[in-house]
Amino acid sequence: MTEPEPPSVAALSLAETATQPVAKATEQEINPWDVHAATDEQGNVLEFDYKAISEKWNTKLIDGALLERFERVTGHKPHRWLRRGLFFSHRDLELILDAYERGETFLLYTGRGPSSDSMHIGHTIPFEFTKYLQDVFDVPLVIMLTDDEKFLFKEKLKQEEVYQFARDNAKDIISIGFDVKKTFIFIDSEFFTSGYNRHFSLNSTEFEKLITNNQVRGAFGFDGSTNIGANAFAAKQCVAAFASSYPFIFGEDHKTYRRSKQLAAMPCLIPCAIDQDPYFRIVRENCSRMDNPSPKPALIHSKFLTSLQGAGGKMSASNPNSAIYMSDTEKQIKNKINKHAFSGGQETLELHREKGGNPDIDVPYQYLTYFEDDDEKIAKFAEDYKKGIMLTGEMKKECINMMTAYVKKFQEARAKITDEVLEEYLRPRKLEWRGNPNPTKP
Ligand code: TYM
Repeated sequence: MTEPEPPSVAALSLAETATQPVAKATEQEINPWDVHAATDEQGNVLEFDYKAISEKWNTKLIDGALLERFERVTGHKPHRWLRRGLFFSHRDLELILDAYERGETFLLYTGRGPSSDSMHIGHTIPFEFTKYLQDVFDVPLVIMLTDDEKFLFKEKLKQEEVYQFARDNAKDIISIGFDVKKTFIFIDSEFFTSGYNRHFSLNSTEFEKLITNNQVRGAFGFDGSTNIGANAFAAKQCVAAFASSYPFIFGEDHKTYRRSKQLAAMPCLIPCAIDQDPYFRIVRENCSRMDNPSPKPALIHSKFLTSLQGAGGKMSASNPNSAIYMSDTEKQIKNKINKHAFSGGQETLELHREKGGNPDIDVPYQYLTYFEDDDEKIAKFAEDYKKGIMLTGEMKKECINMMTAYVKKFQEARAKITDEVLEEYLRPRKLEWRGNPNPTKP
C-alpha cells in the first residue's frame, strides 16, 4: 500500500502574532518550518482547523474506541492530553498496540530542532507526552537534536551556536524526567562523527539514494535555490526512525558493515506536533524500499499549544510575549498571563456577571485544561466561567498558579542537570527496558 500523495506545503509568510480568533480557518498552512492559520478579511488570525488537516493529510483522528483499547492493553488511564484531544490524530497507533500486546519491543523516537537556548511550554508538550509513553510501555527511546537542521535552515545561526543550543535543550529535555537506562539522546553534529553512527549513515545514504529532488520539493516546497544540505536533511530525520540505525542500543555490534534485518523490522512510534508529519510521510512512503525493509513508523500527533494571543497564533522566539518560556521567572509568568493572555471574558464586570465568559477562546482556561489533571475541577471552571460566577481575573490567577508551579518544578529539576548527567544520556550504549510484563502471545 502506498501512502497518499503528500500535498505541497510551499513556504508561506508566517503570521506570528494572533489577534482575536473569530472562526475556523478555511485556508491554513502547516509544515515543519512555517505554521500559520488563515486570516479573515479584517486580517484577524483564525483558529486552526485540525479536523481539516487530518482529512487533508489522511491521518486518523483518535477516538473513544482507540482510547478504550489503549487503556485495556496498557492498563493505564489515557493521559489528559489524550482524554482532552490535545493529541488528536495518529497513523497506525493500533499496530503499536498490537505489537505491545504480543510482547514485542518497539522504538520510541522524537526530537527537537535547537533554534534557541530555552524551550517554551509548547516544546515541552511532545516530551512530557513521550515520557508518559516511556513509563506506560517501558520501551527504548531515542531523542534526536537536529543542530545540523537548524544551521541549514536558519540563515543567521552559526554551527557553534546551534550546537550549544542543542546541549542546553538536551538538558531541558532531560529535566522532564526521562529514565537514563532507556533513553539515548543524540546531537547530530556530535553523533554523526562518533563512529557509532555507522549504521545510521549507511541507512541515510541508502535513503538519500531512494528520494529524488522532486520528492522533497513536492513535500517541503523547496526549489532550485534551496541549499543542497536542506534537500538532503530529510533523510536523516527519516532514518532516525529505524531501530537498525542504533545497533548499540540493542547490544549489537555497530562496527560491522551488515545492518540487522531483525532490527530494521522493529516498529517505531513517533510522538510530535502535526507540523512534523511531512517528514514522516516520506519515510512511510519509502521504508519498504530499503534493502532491509522497515515497517511504516507509527505517529501520534498533537495540536499546537496556543500562543498567549489566542487560537491560531504560534508561539515564537521572536515574540517573547507570545509564549511562556521554561526559563521565565515567576514575575514574568504573572505579567505575561495578566497582560498578554487573550481572555474570553466580557468587557466589564457587570457584563461578565450578566452574560458570562467563553472558556473555549479563553487562553488561561485553555492552559488550565492542558496542565490541570483533575477533570472535575476543569469542568467546574468552565461552568462557573460561562455563568459569570468565575471572573477573568480569577481564571488568570488559577492559570498563573498552575503555570508557575509547572515552570518552577521544571527549573528545580533543570538545576540538577550537570554536564556529567548530560554526557550519560549522550553516550552511545546498550539500553535496558522491560516491555510488556504480561504479553498475550498469539
Ligand atoms: P521543533 O524544535 O520545531 O519542535 C520540537 C517538537 O515540538 C513540537 N512543537 C510543538 N508542540 C506543541 N505546541 C507547540 N506550540 C509546538 N511547537 C513545536 C514539534 O512538532 C516537535 O515535535 N525537525 C524537528 C526536530 C526533530 C523531530 C524528530 C521532531 C527531529 N526528529 C522527530 C519530532 C519527531 C524540529 O525542528 O522540531
